[in-house]
Amino acid sequence: MTYPIGIFDSGIGGTSIWQEITSLLPIENTIYLSDSKNAPYGEKSQEKIIEFSIKNTELLLEKGAKIIVVACNTATTNSIDILRSKYDVPFIGIEPAIKPAALKTATKSIGILATKGTLSSALFSSTSEKFASDIKVVEQVGKGLVELIESGKLYSEEMTELLFSYLKPMIKENIDYLVLGCTHYPYLIPQIKKIVGQNVTVIDSGQAVAKQTNAILEKLNLKNFTKKFGTHQFYINTKKDVLQSILSDVKLNYSVNELDF
Ligand code: DGL
Repeated sequence: MTYPIGIFDSGIGGTSIWQEITSLLPIENTIYLSDSKNAPYGEKSQEKIIEFSIKNTELLLEKGAKIIVVACNTATTNSIDILRSKYDVPFIGIEPAIKPAALKTATKSIGILATKGTLSSALFSSTSEKFASDIKVVEQVGKGLVELIESGKLYSEEMTELLFSYLKPMIKENIDYLVLGCTHYPYLIPQIKKIVGQNVTVIDSGQAVAKQTNAILEKLNLKNFTKKFGTHQFYINTKKDVLQSILSDVKLNYSVNELDF
C-alpha cells in the first residue's frame, strides 16, 4: 500500500523516531507533523494533550495515513487509549524503555529523564510499578530541554547547565542505565554521554518503535511493495528553519512545508 505512515510529535523531536522508521522501512512513504506551535506538551494539562493529539490524528487521516505513529512519549502516555477507541486506524505509541533498563541494571538503580506530562501519567506509573518495583527509579523532569531544542539551542551554555543539573544527582544515586523518555532527547545523547560517562548506558525507544511499526504493517497487510524509495513530507506550524537544520544530513527524498494546523 503506497499510503503513507503518519507520524506526529509536539515538535521536531519525533524526527529521531522518523529516522529509525525510514532506516528500517526505506520503501515506505511518510508524513510527519511537527506541532511546534503547541510545544512543549509536557507542561500542558491532559485535556490539552488529548485535544492536540486528536487534531494531529485528523490531519494525518485527511492526508491518507494508513497507520499513525505517536512519536511523542507525552502524547502516548496521555492520549493513546482515547485515540485507539476513537479511530479505526492502527496506532503505534512510544513509552520510556523502563523494562529493559530494569532487567539489565546491576546497581539496581536507573535514571529516567522525561517530561512532567509523561512522568505524571497513569500509564507511566503502571509500567514503572510493573517492571521496576524492586529497584530504585530516579525520575527527573527535563524542564526546559524541549524548548531549547525547538529554538535551535541544542549546543548552548544553557543546555549544558540544565543537563548537568539534571544528570549529576542521578550519578550520585549510582544509576547504571539512563532511560530517555522524550523523543527530543536522542539529539542530546553526545552531550549526555560526556556528562554521565562510560559506566552509564543511555537507552531510548526509537528502534523498538520502528520494529513495532514494521510488525503491525506486516500483520495487517499494509506494507508498501513498490520498488522505489519512499518520499517524505514534513509539515510544521511555526517557522521551518530549525526543523530543516535538524534534517540537514538526511539524504532521503523529503520536503519541509510550513502549514497552520
Ligand atoms: N517529544 C515529546 C515527548 O516525547 C516532547 C514533549 C513535549 O513537548 O514536552 O515527550
